[in-house]
Amino acid sequence: MERKEEEEEIICLNESFFINDNYQLTEFTFGSQVIQLFCLHSASTDFDLTGQLVWPGAMLLNEYLSKNTEMLRGCSVIELGSGVGITGILCSRFCQNVVLTDHNDEVIKILKKNIELHVSPENPNSCAGLGAEKLEWGNSDQINQIIQEYPGGFDLVLGADI
Ligand SMILES: C[S@@+](CC[C@H](N)C(=O)[O-])C[C@H]1O[C@@H](n2cnc3c(N)ncnc32)[C@H](O)[C@@H]1O
Repeated sequence: MERKEEEEEIICLNESFFINDNYQLTEFTFGSQVIQLFCLHSASTDFDLTGQLVWPGAMLLNEYLSKNTEMLRGCSVIELGSGVGITGILCSRFCQNVVLTDHNDEVIKILKKNIELHVSPENPNSCAGLGAEKLEWGNSDQINQIIQEYPGGFDLVLGADI
């Protein structure tokens, strides 16, 4: 009887217990470009959830890109370690095609939600060619799948804070 009570005390916590998905719609400005997206304002390195927030590297890269938009015009871009997608989403306003990638399934969920926010017909900055793919760096199966989907390849490979 005592043993049974002890067993009932055991609580199993899986990964989802530690995941914060209380995202906040947050506005970022880069030159004339205003981007609203869902992100956290702090994140955990457990389960590599670093992609749930916007990193200083992305702020710097986006500042640079917003001042040099001619380098993006008409390009096809793939972004590595996109996190919540702030760099790829900015690029999508100038590029022909942008593929945002990440390896973390939890991060890909919020990345896709942010893409939906930006490809909605109500969004005046909406861009047709904005997609998300799972990509773990060096995973040749995933790389081959992306190459098959985008046989034209990419003009630019971008990554912030990766
Ligand atoms: C520091 S965060 C940067 C996120 C975003 N680029 C930014 O600057 O705000 C690093 C990102 O890289 C992703 N990442 C880390 N290791 C990776 C790997 N081996 N393959 C693919 N993505 C990875 C993480 O999931 C995370 O989204």
